[in-house]
Amino acid sequence: MTDRYAVFGNPIAHSLSPKIHAFFAKDTGEELSYEPILVPEGRFKETAREFFCDGKGCNVTVPCKLDAYDFADILTPYAEAAGAVNTLKKLENGRIEGDNTDGRGLTADLKRLGVKLDGAKILVMGAGGAARGIIRPLLDESVALVTVVNRTFEKAKKLAEHFGVQACSYEDLSANYNVIINATSTSLNGTLPPLADEILSKASFAYDLMYKPNGETTFTKKALEKGCTKVADGFGMLIMQAALSFELWRGVKPDVTKAISYFRAC
Ligand code: ATR
Repeated sequence: MTDRYAVFGNPIAHSLSPKIHAFFAKDTGEELSYEPILVPEGRFKETAREFFCDGKGCNVTVPCKLDAYDFADILTPYAEAAGAVNTLKKLENGRIEGDNTDGRGLTADLKRLGVKLDGAKILVMGAGGAARGIIRPLLDESVALVTVVNRTFEKAKKLAEHFGVQACSYEDLSANYNVIINATSTSLNGTLPPLADEILSKASFAYDLMYKPNGETTFTKKALEKGCTKVADGFGMLIMQAALSFELWRGVKPDVTKAISYFRAC
């Protein structure tokens, strides 16, 4: 029987994951199926239990990442740090392992883009689930400094304390960062976090976790306008986190560069 994989979420019809995993499977010669599964509100556990009768693994997206965290029998350190799960895998012994590949997807993409992380001073904007998922993998890269800045300062403080990093308010930030990461939801609705222009102009790289078909978000556009030399949206991260899930399930590394070029051209 063909090994079965899926992505869980609500809504789920728009998800690119089935196409990405079909591309990886074809490219690596792995035989598998991968389907979108709509999770009815409040029914994650039942839906996942049924899937894992024969399913081997799944990705989990909005709004089910916390449910997947609770569902997993064991968690990887990345899932524990993120407090959320985006990948579930059925182990040989039948137990379900929960991982989170989002943050490692980001660091892999930053490296692909040639961003020097060793010794870098990094500003993370936002203190929600997206920000929480990326801090531990950034700290694994021997960066010099991570500062969390958030509109609601109390949330930045709580998150920063959890990871032993610095918290700041937008008003008190100094222009001292090499890499600025937008982990707020602002690019979803075309708005911007209240970051001073000077901070953008002094940075060498700006990254938005959100992505757009043309590769340009409101934040990457503003960063370029203010003199930040290099920018990227989160499309590479999307492919990278998918590739890490694929590798976890199949033990095979897909060609991410090929996948990024292919899907960017679609
Ligand atoms: P996600 O799971 O994508 O991280 P979230 O948990 O809702 O989503 O978090 C959204 C983040 O974007 C929060 O840090 C939010 O700031 P607040 O904690 O102050 O709400 C941030 N955000 C959203 N709109 C913003 C805006 N206009 N300016 C600055 N930050 C914004």
